[in-house]
Amino acid sequence: MSERDPTCIGRVRHVLGSNVTVALDPDLAGVAPTYRGRLQSVGQIGSLVRFPQGLVDLIGSVTLVGIAELSGALPPVENVQIGERWIKVQLQGQIDSLGGFQRGVGSYPGLDDPVHFATPDKLAEVFPDPGEGRLRLGQLSAAPEIPVSLEAAKLVLRHAAVVGSTGAGKTSAVAALLQNLLHEGWPGANIVVIDPHGEYARAIGDAGSVRSVLDPDHLLRVPYWALPAEEILVAFVGSSGGGTTKKRWAELVAEARARFVESAEWLDLDPVAVTADTPVPFDVREVWYRLDYENRETREKVNDPTTTCKEEDGAPATLRPARFTHYGAGGASPHKATTYDNHGRVPELLRLALRDPAFQFFQQPPPNPQGDDPLEQAMLEWLGGGNPISVLDFGGVPSGVADLAIGVVLDLLFELALRSDEDGPGIGRPRPVLFVLEEAHRYLGEGTNPLTSRAASRIAREGRKYGVGLLMVTQRPSELPETALAQCGTLIALRLTNSSDQGRIRSALPDTVIGLADVLPSLRTGEAVVSGEAVVLPVRTMVDLPRPLPKAEDPGLKSWRDESGPPDLAPSLARWRGLFDASGEEAPA
Ligand SMILES: Nc1ncnc2c1ncn2[C@@H]1O[C@H](COP(=O)(O)OP(=O)(O)OP(=O)(O)O)[C@@H](O)[C@H]1O
Ligand SMILES: [Mg+2]
Repeated sequence: MSERDPTCIGRVRHVLGSNVTVALDPDLAGVAPTYRGRLQSVGQIGSLVRFPQGLVDLIGSVTLVGIAELSGALPPVENVQIGERWIKVQLQGQIDSLGGFQRGVGSYPGLDDPVHFATPDKLAEVFPDPGEGRLRLGQLSAAPEIPVSLEAAKLVLRHAAVVGSTGAGKTSAVAALLQNLLHEGWPGANIVVIDPHGEYARAIGDAGSVRSVLDPDHLLRVPYWALPAEEILVAFVGSSGGGTTKKRWAELVAEARARFVESAEWLDLDPVAVTADTPVPFDVREVWYRLDYENRETREKVNDPTTTCKEEDGAPATLRPARFTHYGAGGASPHKATTYDNHGRVPELLRLALRDPAFQFFQQPPPNPQGDDPLEQAMLEWLGGGNPISVLDFGGVPSGVADLAIGVVLDLLFELALRSDEDGPGIGRPRPVLFVLEEAHRYLGEGTNPLTSRAASRIAREGRKYGVGLLMVTQRPSELPETALAQCGTLIALRLTNSSDQGRIRSALPDTVIGLADVLPSLRTGEAVVSGEAVVLPVRTMVDLPRPLPKAEDPGLKSWRDESGPPDLAPSLARWRGLFDASGEEAPA
């Protein structure tokens, strides 16, 4: 090895397991030599160096850079050598004589062996090109001409996490990955993006299917009747009411479901076996009407239902309550029926929710005894109806409702995957599904709806066995349960400024890249430390900027620049008031 080799940067001084200390050549200017007209970033944490060892080249990444007298003696050297500049390198793998890279090393460098920076040709041998089952993510931070790609099978089926502080570029990174997937031809892919803030539609556009809870033309439909009885009440009303209400509600729902099963052409179930929780359709408006009726009824004789003092029938379909003569004062007739006010405000809150446009997606598809199974249709829509990417946009509904609906989607699709055979039709093992879960900490962590957290953690724990992958996206990795992060085969860590989040990621990273964890707070927007099974080597990567970008969440301040007089509040006010209308007219949209 000639001293004059322009790629040589120093010599091995110390080898401890896979940690190698290298003294840089004194005549190396700075730590960024020029090679073929370009600066090479040797002194960058995470950049790669090469130790030629006969037929193989060992490859390591830089984890520390220092000057000896500032950091003291490096063990086992007792004396500080004045002026010596050194780098610490973690061995990662080797390139064999045929030019193939593999992780792990067969031998270790010897003392005084020369060390070289990795030239672009060498890096190209380490990093395989995208295509052939690999998805492009971006490019090496240290060498922009080298693409960084992820092995799709590992990414999808071994779970992955994208973490980073807010604004670090998580959503953009996922969007870039999805766009690259679309360009590289995976027409049969099955990716479901759970998008709580409506950010992905713009980035995926016509290439995928986009369904939104607020877009009547492409409505995301999550039928309430697929939920257990109690959850339905929680979704619409916010609580399941007191004991009496809960019991009566379950009774009424069970009866309504059984009635539907009797009349439905497309169902082959025994009505007797139907419970309050069987996921078959029923008309919630009829159940509401009944509950409301009992809550208001007055009678001439308390125990005689034929003496009811009803003044007006009302109508379940238009959510018009029945009206009764007010009960008499001081024990005079009419009297309150025994069920009077049993359910407090629950029936009224339920009526308001059923009229609320934000809950319309929850009332679709309606219970229809004829035709095809509406649940099958809705679930096909969730899966994108044959599109490789399906964006489910939950933006614009109360977060409690969105959380529950997300739980329903995750839970029901996972139930299907559990029941699909490897060589049969269906999803999962025969055709894997990848869920992209934005705000994963909200669904996997504490404090969310129990149904949702159960569904999400079940996929995190068992999904891979059944061909259901999870790509968790979160700005609070410290709020993810440790087990969820441990399930991730691949980690894409963008800039993280919070120390508890850094700590969590540090403990999830393998020991061989601990040095890289230290750069987390100083990464640029869109820059990531990528490690795990899907990449050949843990690397610092500049993620591609997606085109078009996902929608930025915040409204602009442009209107503050205009002189437009006082805002017109009347339409919004009318919409809001309309929600409380008890006339049975349709709520204004
Ligand atoms: N690869 C990139 N290169 C350059 N700029 C980028 C890159 N990725 C993202 N950005 C910029 O950073 C901004 C924020 O990105 P993004 O919305 O993806 O962040 P985020 O981590 O998802 O944030 P939040 O936590 O708020 O959801 C984008 O509007 C974009 O301008
Ligand atoms: Mg985001």
